[in-house]
Amino acid sequence: MTSLLPATAVAHPNIALVKYWGKRDEHLMLPCADSVSMTLDVYPTTTTVQLRPDATNDVVIMDGRFLRGESSQRVTRFLDLVRTQADSRDRVLVDSRNTAPVGVGLASSSAGFAALALAASKAFQLSLDHRALSRLARRGSGSAARSVFGGFVHWHAGTDYAPDPDFASYAEPVTDTRLDLALLAVLLDTAPKPVSSREAMRRTMTTSPAFHRWLAATRTDTALMRGALRAGDVQAVGEIAERNAMGMHAAMEAAVPPVVYRTSASHHVLRQVRRLRAAGERMWATMDAGPNVKVLCLPGDAARLADQLRRLSHRPVLVARSGPGATLHRGEAR
Ligand code: DP6
Repeated sequence: MTSLLPATAVAHPNIALVKYWGKRDEHLMLPCADSVSMTLDVYPTTTTVQLRPDATNDVVIMDGRFLRGESSQRVTRFLDLVRTQADSRDRVLVDSRNTAPVGVGLASSSAGFAALALAASKAFQLSLDHRALSRLARRGSGSAARSVFGGFVHWHAGTDYAPDPDFASYAEPVTDTRLDLALLAVLLDTAPKPVSSREAMRRTMTTSPAFHRWLAATRTDTALMRGALRAGDVQAVGEIAERNAMGMHAAMEAAVPPVVYRTSASHHVLRQVRRLRAAGERMWATMDAGPNVKVLCLPGDAARLADQLRRLSHRPVLVARSGPGATLHRGEAR
């Protein structure tokens, strides 16, 4: 007999230092390559899941509004996986609250599905270890596999030769580093994405002649990134992250039709980052599926560099640090 107590979980978005771009299996959400990220301490998502055994459908509320259409179906398909694991047919009420402004470009789906995986598995009384939780979160959104953990995180692509490829792809924390990084996000644009990252990934994989070269480089970058983190070498971490992200965007832009997230404002900030670096500043750029430029630096330099970027871009700059993994809020009554 399942408990009807609601379960609430909190998770944070993460920024990839070696990017995930391309799935080798869309159904199982298996990535083409490993990736490495840092979970952030900003913009948590809080999600409550409550079983509704007598109901005939799931109800999903996001930021106070009922979710409908494809977004709601995506959540229901994810909940079906949880129901299968729990051997239950119970429908649920999901109430999810994001704190990130829309379009801020810090993959809210990473925090969203990590929080949902934890809250739903608790509501259905599944006892999943962290690795199993990461596998489950992956099925909602690839990058969510990494937000299960705090700090630096390595998501293993796994292998199709494994007896169960689904089982072989999970994230785990990077424990052999003492490096502490900050992330500055230059908020250039909050308009909706011209192309969803899921579609953009698919198009890049299937049509971009540059994709396979980027993928091969990414496989090397993961090993180099792990070494740089272990050595606490901020310069190597920054250089690998910047080249990996710029290579990903170059591959997207070579897709047919092109996937272009970098705007003239993004290029302006990228140039300022290179200029300040040439003047001796330790800062490196990364970008995701949107126009905002994010900058990696040491925490001690963050406030000063954020001020410089505000002055040069005339845009808001957010300062983030390393954040925690997904956590459960126990026993609250609603
Ligand atoms: C550019 O995890 O949002 O942020 O798995 O299709 O839900 P789906 O994609 P998502 O993609 C993230 C892409 C990225 C790079 C990264 O976070 O590694």
